[in-house]
Amino acid sequence: MNPEELRERQKTVLPDWISLNYERPMELVRGEGFKVWDSEGNEYLDLFGGIVTTISGHNVPEIVEAVQKQASKIMHSSTLYMIESQVKLAEKLISLSPISGDQKVFFVGSGSEANEAALLFATNFRASSEVIALRGSYHGGSFGTMSITGQSSWRSTSRSALDVSYAVNPHPSYSPMNRGGDFATAAAEDVRDVIETTTTGHVAAFIAEPIQGVGGFIEPPRGYFERVKGILDESGILFISDEVQTAFGRTGSHFWGIEAHGIEPDLITMAKGLGNGLAIGAVMGRSEIIDSISPKLHISTFGGNHISSAGALANIEFILENDLQKNADEVGGYLKDCLSKMAESHSIVGEIRGRGLMLGIEMIEDDGSPNPKAAAAFLEACRERGVLVGKGGLRSNTTRISPPLTLTREAAKQAADVFEEVLSKVGSKEKVV
Ligand SMILES: Cc1ncc(COP(=O)(O)O)c(C=O)c1O
Repeated sequence: MNPEELRERQKTVLPDWISLNYERPMELVRGEGFKVWDSEGNEYLDLFGGIVTTISGHNVPEIVEAVQKQASKIMHSSTLYMIESQVKLAEKLISLSPISGDQKVFFVGSGSEANEAALLFATNFRASSEVIALRGSYHGGSFGTMSITGQSSWRSTSRSALDVSYAVNPHPSYSPMNRGGDFATAAAEDVRDVIETTTTGHVAAFIAEPIQGVGGFIEPPRGYFERVKGILDESGILFISDEVQTAFGRTGSHFWGIEAHGIEPDLITMAKGLGNGLAIGAVMGRSEIIDSISPKLHISTFGGNHISSAGALANIEFILENDLQKNADEVGGYLKDCLSKMAESHSIVGEIRGRGLMLGIEMIEDDGSPNPKAAAAFLEACRERGVLVGKGGLRSNTTRISPPLTLTREAAKQAADVFEEVLSKVGSKEKVV
């Protein structure tokens, strides 16, 4: 179907608030590795991977085969019956976990559900409904996860079953606390202040993304999480690492995002890259926390079903066997260098952020204020030149780059050449075409 007709039909039957990229929205109908094709036959480098999800690439034979094989046997049985691939997947994840001691995994269907479940376990275990989140965070679209999301544009309600307090966004450009000095310590001390001044003192958990995804690929300074963990440990507050975007080698330097900060969380939530596009999410962590809701029952009908577990298992094996983490480190490092060089000659670039294949380009005005128009123009102009990127940030002024981790250096160079050309145009304030 042509995109104009599909757009008209979508408008009639799907909600207005579903946000579509591009003035002329497109449908992607085919993918191969890090390339995708739209319904009009145009080819693109996919540098956003379906919102940081297609981690191993499109149409990967090993994953497709695992899904097809499983689909032809049995698609659904529910967790009332054992599922071998689900058990194997849990075993694999635990073997890769940065958490020590006995652990369990609970499978769900999405990142929001994974965070909901983590909050359920943490609040039960600690007998407290109080949670600390970070400003600028994004944790999902369900009631519970919206109430720990620190961006008003993603909060269509303020209703919550949790008592949530927010600490400052631990990034110098995004925090009113940036007055020079040791910012990592100042921001971590804000968590202590939040505990002491806005809670009863008996808090269940602190939740954070190792790199804020939707927030624009913002990574806290070194030492921040370590100091926060020390403060939390003083009163037994749990640390939940939301790895929905950072997990499975995407950051290049580590398999899990939180490992870059040298601390051990109590619970980890994951989704997106876990299934390479299949609907699966999970909470992994200390057994005593996850088992704490016993003897109450809890279930996710679709969580870790036959197909998503078989596919996710093949996907994790593909990531490990092909050492995609190393590739993310090398190709991501190369791309970051290219972007950093570009930033020197383009004043429209405020900052190049991120690590591995999770890179952000922040666009600013001459006076340093956010420039969402430039980020939007950049997105459009890249599309015209065959490169798909994403957008994010509290002010929508950050370009997000998160391709499949199979991206080659040649493809990264091709994308970098496009970025250079587009930055010159966006930066020159001419109409970008
Ligand atoms: C860090 C983080 N947590 C949770 C979620 C929610 O995941 P889902 O959209 O699968 O519910 C997202 C989605 O973008 C995310 O980026």
